[in-house]
Amino acid sequence: MKGKTALSERQVEVAAGTVVVTVDHVNLDYHKEKEPLPVLTDVSLTAVKDQLVAITGPSGCGKSTLLRIISGLVKPTSGRVRVLDSEVKGPRDDISIVFQNFVLLPWRTALENVLFGLSSRKDLTDEQKNRKAESALEIAGLQGFESVYPGELSGGMKQRVGVARALAGDPRVMLLDEPFSSLDDLTAERLRREMHTLLISPQTSVQSVILVSHNVEEIIELADKVIVLSSRPAHVVGELKVDLPRPRNKKSDEFFQWVDRVYSLLS
Ligand SMILES: Nc1ncnc2c1ncn2[C@@H]1O[C@H](COP(=O)(O)OP(=O)(O)OP(=O)(O)O)[C@@H](O)[C@H]1O
Ligand SMILES: [Mg+2]
Repeated sequence: MKGKTALSERQVEVAAGTVVVTVDHVNLDYHKEKEPLPVLTDVSLTAVKDQLVAITGPSGCGKSTLLRIISGLVKPTSGRVRVLDSEVKGPRDDISIVFQNFVLLPWRTALENVLFGLSSRKDLTDEQKNRKAESALEIAGLQGFESVYPGELSGGMKQRVGVARALAGDPRVMLLDEPFSSLDDLTAERLRREMHTLLISPQTSVQSVILVSHNVEEIIELADKVIVLSSRPAHVVGELKVDLPRPRNKKSDEFFQWVDRVYSLLS
């Protein structure tokens, strides 16, 4: 009889019932002048409960495309994405996405922008929507700014409205596409410091966060797991579990060793 086979980490995660997101052998081709443009080849990853997974890779390799596939906005050419118990076949209420460039409606107040994200929710009354929007703004640190218009908000505050809008619908999965990259350094640093505690907290419904970023220090500051993609067509060249204790000391030798590890996979 054969001896006991060691279970792969993935099999252990599945057996423990903690997998929130599964990307399973995903391929994607766009089409350019009728020629197929392969963007993702055989990409697989998982995010388990309470995990922040960062995806990085060279510019233009397909990171945003992968995030859009996970959100259901783009359909893969082949392969599947599962969130909790079901396959993602289109945008859904339990998956939220925050983009780099705020995408707020300038003629609506902060509260109305957050409410706009709930407009398709037929299961909620107007009063429930209002309550959820107000509470999401509060969690995102914008209490008192409900009736302010985006034009009067700083970049960091606009991004907080984006986060509040994504949180208001009580998503299980939060997808972040370079959410700090258009902010000034100090604002980005502050928001980043809050982000892990804010998202992975019992205060919100979020179970897993997937962050796309090309900023390696940001990734080591925030991520529990890092997925490194190759240049286009992207495949996974490395998967690292970052076991540094939190809060992470960005000046420690260990921190820089982790940063180096990611850089060596990128080069
Ligand atoms: N809708 C589309 N139709 C055709 N090609 C596209 C489309 N969206 C993206 N692409 C191409 O697919 C490739 C991957 O784009 P994507 O935006 O996913 O990369 P990225 O890694 O997010 O890039 P960046 O680092 O600039 O954010 C690029 O070559 C891009 O030009
Ligand atoms: Mg991108």
